[in-house]
Amino acid sequence: MSEQLASTAKAMVAGNKGLLAMDESHPTCGKRFAKLDIPQTIEMRQAYREMIVTTPGLGECISGAILFDETIRQQTKDGRPFAEVLTAAGIIPGIKVDAGTKELAGHPGEKITEGLDGLREHLAEYVQMGARFAKWRGVITIGDGIPSRGCIQANAHTLARYAALCQEAGLVPIVEPEVLMDGGHTLEQCRAATEDVLRTVFDQLHVQRVLLEGIILKPNMVLAGLACPNQETVDEVADATVETLLRAVPAAVPGVAFLSGGQSSELASARLNAMNVRYKSRAPWALAFSFARAIQQPALEIWRGEEANVPAAQQALLHRARCNRAARRGEYSAAMER
Ligand code: G3H
Repeated sequence: MSEQLASTAKAMVAGNKGLLAMDESHPTCGKRFAKLDIPQTIEMRQAYREMIVTTPGLGECISGAILFDETIRQQTKDGRPFAEVLTAAGIIPGIKVDAGTKELAGHPGEKITEGLDGLREHLAEYVQMGARFAKWRGVITIGDGIPSRGCIQANAHTLARYAALCQEAGLVPIVEPEVLMDGGHTLEQCRAATEDVLRTVFDQLHVQRVLLEGIILKPNMVLAGLACPNQETVDEVADATVETLLRAVPAAVPGVAFLSGGQSSELASARLNAMNVRYKSRAPWALAFSFARAIQQPALEIWRGEEANVPAAQQALLHRARCNRAARRGEYSAAMER
């Protein structure tokens, strides 16, 4: 089992590829559709996700795709389950298994992720459907007096319990403790919170006997908040991010696959590129990506729910996937965007 987990985890970050997160819950997907006047129906979600999974050549840049519960049960119009279409394209199917966030009791402004109840049974079902890895996102907010110790510890413990259950089922857990970009905090505040969160998460993973060779870490980049007037350069963000990871992430972890978290597609690629230019040869783990918005957004804006726009949307999706593969090699540049 350990060997299988380690080999799946390695495959998820092999070949300078990365992960495509397409696991938006109904409310999140609904918000993104609503902004473009796309009807929020099951048929539209099916059509959108079919556009994504049937993009020709996607497997050249994407190693794995994270699906949502509804999506892993869906099929193309000609009756092929999405998980099978992905596997045939050389893309490993994965599944989001958390049930979203709720207010953390006694901690105003902070959240805890739910979904541990019944998780062992859910995981067994997803394995039957072809999933080989899973994802769980914990959310940490920076603000006045937060994040609190209570919030960091509760989320770290929950992530570790989830990860242990995944490994028991033969699934590689993507461990995602996201320090949110919302707010006016500085990069230094994000650095301190991220280091604290990662140290606590790895402590809990150890306590829960999680095999580090068989996980993928999905962290935020270390950045100033979106509303902070002082935004560091691409190289400064790359340095702050990798320095923080070097302090807190054990070398046994095969891959770090960043979330994009609300950065523009271009900035997410440029920052990932800078990390690989500056650290690829000496970082102990792969510096990869697991983006949702930073890969999908341009394609969604072209697609807009119209069948006729599918080829152009697929081109846009493939372009972002290629930009991020180039960023993993340290070969991305603004010229790729022209
Ligand atoms: O859990 C978060 C998603 O998988 C990543 O989404 O790249 O849009 O932040 P994002």
